[in-house]
Amino acid sequence: MKKCITISAVAFTMIMGMIGCGNDKTKPGSVYMPDMAYSRGYETYAERDSSVFTNDPLNKGAKIYYDNNPVSGTIKRGELYPYTLRNDSMGYVMSAGVKNPIDSLSVDEMKEAGRLFNINCAICHGEKGAGNGPIATSGKIGGIANLTLDTYVKMADGTMFHSLTYGKNLMGSYASQLDRKQRWMLVKYIRTLQPKATAAQAPSTDTTKAK
Ligand code: HEC
Repeated sequence: MKKCITISAVAFTMIMGMIGCGNDKTKPGSVYMPDMAYSRGYETYAERDSSVFTNDPLNKGAKIYYDNNPVSGTIKRGELYPYTLRNDSMGYVMSAGVKNPIDSLSVDEMKEAGRLFNINCAICHGEKGAGNGPIATSGKIGGIANLTLDTYVKMADGTMFHSLTYGKNLMGSYASQLDRKQRWMLVKYIRTLQPKATAAQAPSTDTTKAK
């Protein structure tokens, strides 16, 4: 029995020694499973050892492949489903049939949509969407749409979303700057800048010359 206690005591001391109960609480002591104590850094901006990692698909296998992008075909939690229409004339026509997945915006969401519009769009379209932002009035880019016009009042949400996703003529694509929800929110916001559909024929109160 005594022997048993002695063996247990020695074993206990050894284990405690391995776990390490030194004064420095910031160090893990002896590391039993290093892969668990020191995880491989997959953080977006973490520096990666180029002798171990590669972002060249052709080098896959020889090194660990990691390109910072989400795995294709995956959707971020809570994100809207991908938009499947293609960037061609057929896709543009068909976009009119795509319903805005957002029925209505809360007060906060509408505020956010307005903020996004003023940051991304007002420079060309103007804060009220009348096509008279600083770039339009400078004359540097012509043909900036006056979103309060009847054409755009009648334009389907889906078509606006399509143009925001792929760009249209002199307007670039916003797919990389604004996620799907933000783009649909902006379409909702544009509606608030437009005269009501019933009064669509009434002349716009905006007197600026830009179309
Ligand atoms: C660089 C200037 C510029 C910026 C910035 C810009 N647009 Fe445009 N936008 C245009 C021009 C030019 C057109 C007209 C395209 C055409 O029909 O040739 C246009 C057209 C549109 C249309 C009509 C699309 C269609 O199918 O006819 C919508 C809707 C629109 N813009 C919304 C937005 C929103 C929302 C933003 C901000 C996310 C934005 N625009 C930012 C220049 C701009």
